[in-house]
Amino acid sequence: EKAGFKHFMAKEIAEQPAVLGDAINHYVKKDGLDLPEGIDFAGLDRLTLVACGTAYYACAVAKYWFENLARLPCEIDVASEFRYREPPMPAKSWAIFVSQSGETADTLAALRYCNEKVEKTLAVVNVPTSSMAREADLALPIHAGVEVGVASTKAFTCQLLSLAVLALKAGVDRGHITETQLAAHLEGLRALPGLMNTALGTADEIAGLAEKLAEAQDILFLGRGPLYPLAMEGALKLKEISYIHAEGYASGELKHGPIALIERTVPVIVFAPHDRLFDKTVSNMQEVMARHGKVLLVSDARGLREASEGTWATLKMPEVAEPFAPILYALPAQLLAYYTAVAKGTDVDQPRNLAKSVTVE
Ligand code: F6R
Repeated sequence: EKAGFKHFMAKEIAEQPAVLGDAINHYVKKDGLDLPEGIDFAGLDRLTLVACGTAYYACAVAKYWFENLARLPCEIDVASEFRYREPPMPAKSWAIFVSQSGETADTLAALRYCNEKVEKTLAVVNVPTSSMAREADLALPIHAGVEVGVASTKAFTCQLLSLAVLALKAGVDRGHITETQLAAHLEGLRALPGLMNTALGTADEIAGLAEKLAEAQDILFLGRGPLYPLAMEGALKLKEISYIHAEGYASGELKHGPIALIERTVPVIVFAPHDRLFDKTVSNMQEVMARHGKVLLVSDARGLREASEGTWATLKMPEVAEPFAPILYALPAQLLAYYTAVAKGTDVDQPRNLAKSVTVE
């Protein structure tokens, strides 16, 4: 069942190019987007995205997409806070619930709350027969296939893909994306499986770095823009399977506290494609290096050319369409967590204290 891999997690990481390609084929056709009837974001005042854990970080990335690509005000929340806060919901709003299992108790409760309050609820789930899929007004399957590893990998990238497709639809509906721009974005999505294959080629290099990372007590992850939620996801993945304490921060927050943690023994992993915020992230990275932090810079050829000096290590990713960088950079984040856990000898597929589906709160 593991198809020659040592763990389900390794198999599920490796199959992402194929799985994402399949998910893209479900939603992107030759002549444009192909989504279920009834999805039109035109008249909305606000969109709310609710989830837990890794699915929440997918929502946090998607917030950048809905705001930038569709100029749609977008709130995100963790379900356990949302459900008890009982926030007021504008009438002209939709709410999207993202969940691999479709059964997470807090997310389901948040969905039930919104069913009474908003115009439309949408479940973005991997299990099409799940409670959330049944109870939401509309269900959108992410087509990741069965995910066995407790640490979510391919479901995360497929959640991102589904949310990217929805954000593009919103951009078109709201008149912020022209036909030409849509075609370019769809090209960007279609390129992802190939780019993911290239990213998987860094696995051996990452396994080498992981030997060192496994000795750390604390690891920081930094990113800006849509790579900020990916920094949090990278930290979550690492702590849940390697049991090393990790935190993800927005690069710009570093000097507001976490920089006090920096010393020789603290690795700092920086996700920084050469995008319009690159120089800002590099200056944060230099602040880390000035305090002898061990920087691992994950960037593209151009970024590495400009900013490798003084780093502890680098990982080269291929160039990617700017908005969709988190979908590609998820792979080195997952591989770093995986190989660090393997180096520590933990139970990768069944980490202590965790369950695949959290159906009690
Ligand atoms: C982390 C992980 C969890 C889940 C969370 C939500 O790797 O898997 O954080 O993402 O428990 O689960 P679902 O998506 O089933 O609602």
